[in-house]
Amino acid sequence: MTEPAADTCQSPRSLEQLRDDHASEKQLFQRFLEALIDRRMTEALTALDAFAENVAEHITAEDDFWIPQFDRRFGMTRGFGATLLLSEHRLIEKLLRELHQQARAICTSESPAPAVDILLLIEAALRFRGVVDHHQEREERVMIPALAEPA
Ligand SMILES: [Fe+2]
Ligand SMILES: [Fe+2]
Repeated sequence: MTEPAADTCQSPRSLEQLRDDHASEKQLFQRFLEALIDRRMTEALTALDAFAENVAEHITAEDDFWIPQFDRRFGMTRGFGATLLLSEHRLIEKLLRELHQQARAICTSESPAPAVDILLLIEAALRFRGVVDHHQEREERVMIPALAEPA
């Protein structure tokens, strides 16, 4: 993908890296879910920790650089604007904090987690994944291709 030089030299992450981040976030989250289902609790939490770290760095790059660029260059002309993307980020952060808290309580408990607790965690995880998938699809379908257009 060709990117405007002015963008790549200022951003901590290229547009290609944004796509790669989305893919690795999907893999890490899948690993978290599979480990959870197999009751490999330490592995589940490790995968979720890595996912959360990846998401935090990724969101920072988008909030600080790419979304302002998108706003400056395209405003609302692509069907949605910066406000929507930023508010989705805040929602993702909030839901992830809650999910992480719920996962920590279950995965670090000394006694085996009751099946119902694991089930509730999986349900919360799937709801969260729906929000993230929707957001990433919006970025991959509209924001990233737009930003890759020559300035
Ligand atoms: Fe995003
Ligand atoms: Fe993203």
